[in-house]
Amino acid sequence: MEYRSNGQLGVEVRGIDLKETIPDNILEKIKKDVHEHKLLIFKNQGVITAERHLEISQWFGELDSKHKKHKRSPHPDILRVSNDSTEGCTGIGRTGWHIDGSFIEKPFRLCIFYMVSIPREGSTAFISLNGLINQLTPEKRELWNSLHGIFRQDGYENIHPLIYPHPVTRQPTMCFNLGNMEEFIFDSGGKDERFLKNDETEDTLKDIDREIKQSEDLIYRHKWEEGDLIICDNRAVGHEATPETQYPVSQIGLRILHRTTIKGVNTPSKQI
Ligand SMILES: [Fe+2]
Repeated sequence: MEYRSNGQLGVEVRGIDLKETIPDNILEKIKKDVHEHKLLIFKNQGVITAERHLEISQWFGELDSKHKKHKRSPHPDILRVSNDSTEGCTGIGRTGWHIDGSFIEKPFRLCIFYMVSIPREGSTAFISLNGLINQLTPEKRELWNSLHGIFRQDGYENIHPLIYPHPVTRQPTMCFNLGNMEEFIFDSGGKDERFLKNDETEDTLKDIDREIKQSEDLIYRHKWEEGDLIICDNRAVGHEATPETQYPVSQIGLRILHRTTIKGVNTPSKQI
């Protein structure tokens, strides 16, 4: 098994076939390295069946499948995404930059993506959240550090710090979703605690989006190739689907993405 940097985020992993039995020492290395590199992009994996995708996912823990269900999904634990509504859920990943599962108490630890049918256009874009935080101005970092977001989706409501230490690496990271953060609390639990006004909330969401878009050097756009399987440290990496992913089948071909998500074990917290 060898790693190759793509120069931006994560590593390409070659020389391993995830369809085979993986020795324990290699598996332990993968579990550790997904946090160090944030994105493990396994190349040349051939056809990963839904059954194998689930088996691989379970190496990392229990699955948490709070996602939209689609009748063509091969298993309830697999989110099936497509640009054809008869094939999978459409519009997924297009509501703004985000991590997955921000709306639940313990956001997903890992996301595992496999592209079943590869479109001619459209990528998945990823950004290191620690990298993003590190290049904020001190004033902006202090402001973001003092915010908690209120996340509402699918009947869930949770409050999470916008910036907090990653539970494994301890690097500052973000819990965010530009599509479902409806309110912010400033200085939560402190003497200056208050809700941001609507215009301040809008400005903050726009500001996060702007900071990401200005950080082109931190963004890695994955152009899917046959046999790619990606394991993503969901709490360390923001992502979104690029606009072309939603183009019709007649234009870019059929896009079908399978995603599994590994249950979180930590509530995002300022405390280490
Ligand atoms: Fe997502």
